[in-house]
Amino acid sequence: MQVVEDSAQSFEVNLTFGGRYVGRAVSTSRSRYEVEFSDVELEPPYRRKGLGTKLVKLVITRLRERGVRHIYGSVPRSALEEFPEIVQWYERLGFKNGERYPVAVPGAVAYLHLDLLDS
Ligand SMILES: CC(C)(COP(=O)(O)OP(=O)(O)OC[C@H]1O[C@@H](n2cnc3c(N)ncnc32)[C@H](O)[C@@H]1OP(=O)(O)O)[C@@H](O)C(=O)NCCC(=O)NCCS
Repeated sequence: MQVVEDSAQSFEVNLTFGGRYVGRAVSTSRSRYEVEFSDVELEPPYRRKGLGTKLVKLVITRLRERGVRHIYGSVPRSALEEFPEIVQWYERLGFKNGERYPVAVPGAVAYLHLDLLDS
């Protein structure tokens, strides 16, 4: 697992295996304590092996260490169509569905958030 960008604004983790790109997760700072989580995606052959879960847990740990208090993200319709249990997948990682969100995202079918002070 390789952290490719780790700045005040952005935190991007790329997952590689034997030099091959496997997937990534991108988080972007939206305010001092808030981060928007986006682009969690694994290449198709690497899905359903627990890697997505590990990747998101790593990102949560790193953001917590950086003092982030709130992570939010949205689920696009395409993700729900491909994986109807996607919201439950995030809920297993501690996210809550449907509460506050700063701005409406076109095409989003669900909004997720995780309060790091609670967990
Ligand atoms: C969503 C995604 C990141 C999940 O990562 P992953 O490594 O495939 O998921 P995990 O192996 O950690 O998931 C564990 C469990 O979630 C469930 N699950 C994961 N993907 C699933 C799918 N496509 N359909 C049904 N259940 C699924 C299963 O219960 C799985 O356990 P099992 O394989 O023992 O049944 C990955 O599938 C992906 O890249 N999807 C395409 C992009 C996308 O939709 N990103 C999310 C945008 S909000």
